[in-house]
Amino acid sequence: MSKEVTLETLTSLAKRRGFVFQASEIYGGLSGFWDYGPYGVELVNNLKASWWQHFVREQRDTVGIDGAIIQNPKLWKASGHIDGFNDPLVEDVKTHKRYRADHLAGVDTNDIAQLTELLKDKKSPDGNPLGPVREFNMMFKTYVGALEDEDSTAYLRPETAGAIFANYKNVLDTARVKVPFGIAQIGKAFRNEISPRDFIFRVRELEQMEIEYFCKPDDATKQLERLKDLYWDWLVKIGLNTDRFAWRQLSKEERAHYSADNWDVEYKYFGDKPKELGGIANRTDYDLLHHAEASGKDLSYFDEATREHFTPYVIEPTIGVGRTMLAVLESAYTEEEVGDDTRIVLKLAPEIAPVKVAVLPLSKKPELSKLSEEVYKKLVRSTGYNIEYDETQSIGKRYRRQDEIGTPYCVTIDFESLEDGCVTVRERDSMHQTRVKIEDLDQHIKM
Ligand code: GAP
Repeated sequence: MSKEVTLETLTSLAKRRGFVFQASEIYGGLSGFWDYGPYGVELVNNLKASWWQHFVREQRDTVGIDGAIIQNPKLWKASGHIDGFNDPLVEDVKTHKRYRADHLAGVDTNDIAQLTELLKDKKSPDGNPLGPVREFNMMFKTYVGALEDEDSTAYLRPETAGAIFANYKNVLDTARVKVPFGIAQIGKAFRNEISPRDFIFRVRELEQMEIEYFCKPDDATKQLERLKDLYWDWLVKIGLNTDRFAWRQLSKEERAHYSADNWDVEYKYFGDKPKELGGIANRTDYDLLHHAEASGKDLSYFDEATREHFTPYVIEPTIGVGRTMLAVLESAYTEEEVGDDTRIVLKLAPEIAPVKVAVLPLSKKPELSKLSEEVYKKLVRSTGYNIEYDETQSIGKRYRRQDEIGTPYCVTIDFESLEDGCVTVRERDSMHQTRVKIEDLDQHIKM
């Protein structure tokens, strides 16, 4: 029996089992910042590796980069972030607590006049009057070098895309790629969100997985459809519940003025209201034209086959690592009645499970520990998987613990194993147990 999972249930599981901790928790935390614990970092690394495999290594026309977090501020001026990366802010005049005006108004717009009208008779959540709606820039500022003045001001990147555009020519000149081709990047981005919330859904330090796919203007619609399908396939591959997510095309009013088409993939995280998990956009030639103008560098493309000169259009599939992790946990969370007990199990796709196999000796007696350690070492070396060795508590409790972190296989070693050279393999979802020869173990658990 599976159960609708709440945000509180997942937050508590994530903390209890070491997936996600509040950043600087011992100092009271810091709103919008989270740390990944031992299982969280494994899950996140597996998600990123799976994304990279699907979108980069399996695509002959896509290569990766890893750009710096701090770039020349001229880049963010040209991209429009310094002047326009704003959220509408409104302040409780008594408590001085700040809120996203669009969230308070319950609409999805940045239009200051519209929000002012909608909020004119509204009170803050504490029942106090609200101040005027104004724009708030979400870029985190820092200084580069020994002086802290205007000339040394720099920004933590608000998205990974910037470094991709700035390296478009470098990649073109060095990577033996031709239009159409993609540049992918996974990395941290920083946004000074007015109201971070919903656990790791809206944070101030996030990680993105983005591709800028450069193509001919008249090929852009076809490429967007192709990449949308590729994107969907990956969401299915990582085990998202297909009943809980869907593409939604953004209206003209919702998308950026330069965007020719834009889709969000929306996931029903908790309850039935879909929220943005990721997106894909046809950004036209807006970015390359703006960077060409601001940098004075020619970013047009010459197609040798057709002798055409043009500025490529860009299709941008993007998704946040944290939002993906949250969707994966939501899809995987299951509660089942087993006898008089309730078993919590994360039915994660094996590819992304933080621990692939747990080796569980039934006793701490030296002869069993010796064999169990040998099995553990052999498996780690032959599979390359993250494998856990656990000899504490009853076997029932150890199974429950592995179920809760989504481990696909538990390998139990008992005194009979010393005689017959076999171990018991328990499969997570069915709980079926099979006796397997130690020499066949790595083949049996192959995933
Ligand atoms: N380069 C395009 C871009 O950055 P975006 O919609 O602003 O587009 C892309 O961000 C993805 O990054 C989102 O779909 C979401 O998954 C993730 N994301 C954005 N802001 C976030 C935040 N404050 N917290 C967590 N994830 C966020």
